[in-house]
Amino acid sequence: MLRYLLILSAACGLCFGANILAVFPGVWKSHYLFGRRLISNLAQRGHNVTILSAYYSLPQENVTEITIPNVEKNFLDMGLTFNLDEIRDKSILEQFSKSIYAATSNVDVVMGSEQVQSMLKSKETKFDLLLIDSFMSDALLGFSVYYNVPTVVVSPIGPNKWINEMVGNIHNSAMHPNSFLPLLDNMNLGKRITNTLMSIFEKLTYNCLYLPYHEYAYQRYFGQLIGDQQTLPSLWDVVHNVSMVLVNSNPVSQYPRAFVPNMVEIGGAHIFNNMTKMSKSVLKFMDDAPEGILYISFGANLKTDDLPKEKFDALIQAVRAVQGRLRVILKLESFDLEDQPRHTVIAPWLPQQEILAHPKLKVFISTVGLMSMIESIHYAAPVLGVPIFPEQELNMKRLEQLGTGVRVNYDNFTNDSLVEAINELLANPEYKENAKRASALFNDSLTSPIDLAVHNIEMVLRTGGARHLRSAATKLGFIQAELIDVSLIILLGIVMIIAVPSMIICVILRRNNCKRQAQANEVVKTATKNGVDIKNKKKKQH
Ligand SMILES: *[C@@H]1O[C@H](CO)[C@@H](O)[C@H](O)[C@H]1NC(C)=O
Ligand SMILES: *[C@@H]1O[C@H](CO)[C@@H](O)[C@H](O)[C@H]1NC(C)=O
Ligand SMILES: *[C@@H]1O[C@H](CO)[C@@H](O)[C@H](O)[C@H]1NC(C)=O
Ligand SMILES: *[C@@H]1O[C@H](CO)[C@@H](O)[C@H](O)[C@H]1NC(C)=O
Ligand SMILES: *[C@@H]1O[C@H](CO)[C@@H](O)[C@H](O)[C@H]1NC(C)=O
Ligand SMILES: *[C@@H]1O[C@H](CO)[C@@H](O)[C@H](O)[C@H]1NC(C)=O
Ligand SMILES: *[C@@H]1O[C@H](CO)[C@@H](O)[C@H](O)[C@H]1NC(C)=O
Repeated sequence: MLRYLLILSAACGLCFGANILAVFPGVWKSHYLFGRRLISNLAQRGHNVTILSAYYSLPQENVTEITIPNVEKNFLDMGLTFNLDEIRDKSILEQFSKSIYAATSNVDVVMGSEQVQSMLKSKETKFDLLLIDSFMSDALLGFSVYYNVPTVVVSPIGPNKWINEMVGNIHNSAMHPNSFLPLLDNMNLGKRITNTLMSIFEKLTYNCLYLPYHEYAYQRYFGQLIGDQQTLPSLWDVVHNVSMVLVNSNPVSQYPRAFVPNMVEIGGAHIFNNMTKMSKSVLKFMDDAPEGILYISFGANLKTDDLPKEKFDALIQAVRAVQGRLRVILKLESFDLEDQPRHTVIAPWLPQQEILAHPKLKVFISTVGLMSMIESIHYAAPVLGVPIFPEQELNMKRLEQLGTGVRVNYDNFTNDSLVEAINELLANPEYKENAKRASALFNDSLTSPIDLAVHNIEMVLRTGGARHLRSAATKLGFIQAELIDVSLIILLGIVMIIAVPSMIICVILRRNNCKRQAQANEVVKTATKNGVDIKNKKKKQH
């Protein structure tokens, strides 16, 4: 009987079907895809998940998708763009501040959606957990206050300063490169200066621009919903009350670093092992390739059509130049090519992982977004990288460090440089060997990242918020956390230790000095007196 109860209670951790609200509000499709894979897994384990996002997938049992219209329209209305030339023209700071504005107005888009409003007003809807990609959407953490549930934050872009802040994870500009800069973890003095300045800029914009905007949006929407502004905790408190952060990183794809226990690396969680999505004809096209396959994709967020005309033409010329040797698979959303290159499959969407996993794959042309980069490492695919965003620049640097890729700078995106880079990757077997080595390191862990992610989410559910894992750092203000108060007191102590004896010495010396001075004065005085006397005497003698 006891044994039966034990088995029952052990199994209950698994059979516990929770209602989870997942919010992936951003305009970046790759973020949604990362979260969707996690959600799919949670649903298979019997949890009931409701997703709010601009995107949607095929219907799945136990998953309800609420699609938010106008997310992309808002992004474009706010002066942001997917056009690569225009992106390249903007400075990092301009992109950064524009993104902050756009993301804040995205909160209005999400909260203004009719379906979201009817979900919030429905009395029956109850949740047990909020799963959220809070990247530039902190106001939406208000869902956790409204439903009174713990929060698990998912960061598809890996750790950054703002995410670290939530759980008090250390961020040190000496060794942790800022995610908006293309820096690796071994920085020289100049790079550390840049990194520190960027971190200060980021902290200032976070505290003085970003958080106030979101605080306002949060108060407005959730204060109204709760109906009592007084009991609504400040957004600052909510941000620092997150139960768990799951980051899309790994020491092989990024760099080794320390984490507090409620911040867990799940890099590779979106990798699936169910290779059944590829159409039979494309599979045969790959299997029959005599020498190998070249695969070209600019990622989920960018479309190949976002390439300017001359760069697109250069790409097609490069494809024509290699089509005699390689079979080419090109992800292209719309194509009106007059004569399609031979031995080429063009499709608007393809199961990328199945292509990268194919033994005939020789070269992957990519903008090296984080998810593609991790897939290339996992499946040991040599990469021809054309990084566009600073974060992609960083990923490319990492691939070059691992020796698995060759770069073509965006400004040098011509048919000749592409062909040259492809030839380099084909001619030199070292790239593939390095890729295999990196893949082995990436694969060598005790648990699969997706199981780790699901375990931690269920652990938060079981423990009602994993309070036992919270670092004391979340309760410290800036002055305490940076030890500024302590340093000042120690400095004061040192000053006292040095100052008090030296003051005493000074006083003694001065007193001695004074005495001596006085004696000296005495001598001079008597001397002058004598002198005067002598003079007087001399005068008198006349
Ligand atoms: C949906 O959840 C139920 C339990 O709530 C579970 O029995 C079922 O297997 C789940 N469906 C799928 C497709 O995973
Ligand atoms: C699952 O979630 C949906 C949407 O919130 C809800 O309508 C449904 O009743 C839930 N199912 C269960 C079994 O809780
Ligand atoms: C693999 O994927 C196919 C299609 O998406 C699905 O029908 C099948 O159940 C999946 N198999 C497993 C083991 O998940
Ligand atoms: C690249 O383009 C130039 C100009 O259009 C052309 O002359 C050259 O032959 C092309 N090279 C290849 C390898 O296609
Ligand atoms: C541009 O590409 C050409 C041909 O591959 C190469 O020789 C040259 O060094 C590249 N220039 C830059 C600035 O990368
Ligand atoms: C890592 O795992 C994936 C899938 O399980 C596999 O395709 C790949 O070959 C593995 N890499 C190594 C080096 O074992
Ligand atoms: C913090 O989260 C816990 C649940 O994890 C909740 O009970 C508590 O009310 C939250 N506090 C604030 C200030 O949001």
